[in-house]
Amino acid sequence: MDTYINPLIENIHQELLPAFQIESVDPHEPVKVHYLPDPWRLLGKGNYAAVVYHPNHPNVVVKIYAPGRPGFEEEVEVYQRLGSHPAFSQCLYVGIGFLVLKRLYGVTLYDCMHLGVRIPIKVIRDIDEALDYARRRGLHPHDIHGRNVMMHEGKGFVVDVSDFLHEETCSKWNNLKKAYYWLYRPFFSPIKLRIPYFLLDIVRRSYRRCASFKTTCCRLVRSFISP
Ligand SMILES: Nc1ncnc2c1ncn2[C@@H]1O[C@H](COP(=O)(O)OP(=O)(O)O)[C@@H](O)[C@H]1O
Ligand SMILES: [Mg+2]
Repeated sequence: MDTYINPLIENIHQELLPAFQIESVDPHEPVKVHYLPDPWRLLGKGNYAAVVYHPNHPNVVVKIYAPGRPGFEEEVEVYQRLGSHPAFSQCLYVGIGFLVLKRLYGVTLYDCMHLGVRIPIKVIRDIDEALDYARRRGLHPHDIHGRNVMMHEGKGFVVDVSDFLHEETCSKWNNLKKAYYWLYRPFFSPIKLRIPYFLLDIVRRSYRRCASFKTTCCRLVRSFISP
């Protein structure tokens, strides 16, 4: 471990963790952060974890898993296998239930849709290239949706690699790309359309329901046709 983060690790144990309150009510919805001690700042919430930073250490973030949510050990292993690549973060320290990661600056593509910020094609290509790199490292890019990818100064980044050991195919990134090329570029981007969060959330929830409906149908069909 680099010694420059020693004071941060001390602060995490003495100030952050004893007071921090996080809860994951539904694994398909973002976690709830009930209390974050000052001067820590919340950067983002996923379905399993919250990501915070301390203003004295703005270039690193702490990802804290909600009790009972999986993925922590897998994420450590994925970062080990990924090594160093400009489109991914790096894991700097592993604690009990938390990781210290290199901070990635920028806006998630989900937030870009909300803010009406133009997403250049290079961002999509950078992410594609990063996912190919992960595959070459024996990983399986998984759960790549708008809140797990970011854009900064015209470049694309992948913020969440926690599911990259899951071998089953995941079509989220391919579907996002289809939506980008067929809807976003021709229609939304030219008019800088801003999509309210409630509509983005409706799309997100319907996507999940459609996906689980499709899986159930496939299973049913398979159970009929397989011996
Ligand atoms: N290394 C990072 N740098 C900056 N922001 C991050 C970083 N990792 C995560 N985030 C932010 O925190 C949010 C939640 O983190 P994420 O890893 O996706 O959690 P989960 O595994 O619960 O989905 C992301 O959508 C992003 O906004
Ligand atoms: Mg995530």
